[in-house]
Amino acid sequence: MQDQMRLGLPHLTTSAPESPVIVCHCAVVSDRDVHTAVAQGARTVGAVCRSTGAAQDCGSCIFTVKALVCQHQAQDRELLEVDGAAS
Ligand code: FES
Repeated sequence: MQDQMRLGLPHLTTSAPESPVIVCHCAVVSDRDVHTAVAQGARTVGAVCRSTGAAQDCGSCIFTVKALVCQHQAQDRELLEVDGAAS
């Protein structure tokens, strides 16, 4: 069941995927590539796209890339809120 859910909606998973999911088929960029770009400092969709090569051709992957970046930002905010609550 989880495999079926991951096939169509890689950006909606709540845990780290066991295997990479291709989000940009033109440049063969995976969700892990996007996560790595964000972890290395890319903070905007444009920065992630320039770093990974995603969304530079047909552009159909841009919304998935955006969702992954937003997912990271939400996780970062949650961590900041937890840090703030603990101090
Ligand atoms: S699928 Fe990403 S640019 Fe075409």
